[in-house]
Amino acid sequence: MTAPAVAAQRSAPDPAWWADPYALALRHGKGPLFLRRADGWLLPLEVERWCAGTDAADRSVLSRCRGTVLDIGCGPGRLIAALAERGRGALGIDVAPAAVAQAVRRGGSALCRSVFETLPREGHWGTALLMDGNIGIGGNPSALLERVAGLLTPGGRLLVEAAPVEVDERCEVRLDDGRGTLGTPFPWARAGRRALLHHAGATGWRTARSWTVTGRHFAELVRVAPLHVAAPTGAPVCLGGAQ
Ligand SMILES: C[S@@+](CC[C@H](N)C(=O)[O-])C[C@H]1O[C@@H](n2cnc3c(N)ncnc32)[C@H](O)[C@@H]1O
Repeated sequence: MTAPAVAAQRSAPDPAWWADPYALALRHGKGPLFLRRADGWLLPLEVERWCAGTDAADRSVLSRCRGTVLDIGCGPGRLIAALAERGRGALGIDVAPAAVAQAVRRGGSALCRSVFETLPREGHWGTALLMDGNIGIGGNPSALLERVAGLLTPGGRLLVEAAPVEVDERCEVRLDDGRGTLGTPFPWARAGRRALLHHAGATGWRTARSWTVTGRHFAELVRVAPLHVAAPTGAPVCLGGAQ
């Protein structure tokens, strides 16, 4: 695969993740950094882990990658760098230029692009990754799962991480550095194992397996429902067969 190893600026980056405090935390390789809900509840973000190398849980996911890999919300790129080292074609996408720049510096191929924008090789990726809480991107797990289905080749896999607790939540959050600097509000979601598998089933995915490593929960999903669009006559057209 010849993915562009550049931090392309073809679209306006999302200010929620673009501006400080995320860029600052990535620059220093550490938090504190939180997602703050409107009611003041704080979710600590694991910036140190994201900026480090892969761990056993990450490697349990990487070993299940097949074909070319799209890491959605790649952050500073530990996974795409590890995949590149293994010789596997991989592209990271992220809306934060600071994250994309680091991912490229670490030896990965990465693009500054939202998952909801047009992406290279749509419908041809062998594996998609949604790690580190990224099922929350866009604040609507079902919409994200539908979007990812359209990115994969027939028979492609989604490797997705669930929240460590049983939760099914859609909310508005801001990035918070714990010292008074707040980012702009954006929609986010959290889905624990049960909720994730429920959303997956409801959007036409089959769970091939699920597993836990060092307290982190993962699932391997395979698309089973065909994608339909309205034909000019109004009759449905099948774009991808059941797998
Ligand atoms: C919870 S962090 C995950 C960090 C990352 N997986 C890592 O290895 O460091 C969420 C990441 O998703 C990115 N993101 C948020 N919205 C996005 C979108 N619509 N499309 C692509 N990436 C997005 C953020 O910029 C951030 O880097």
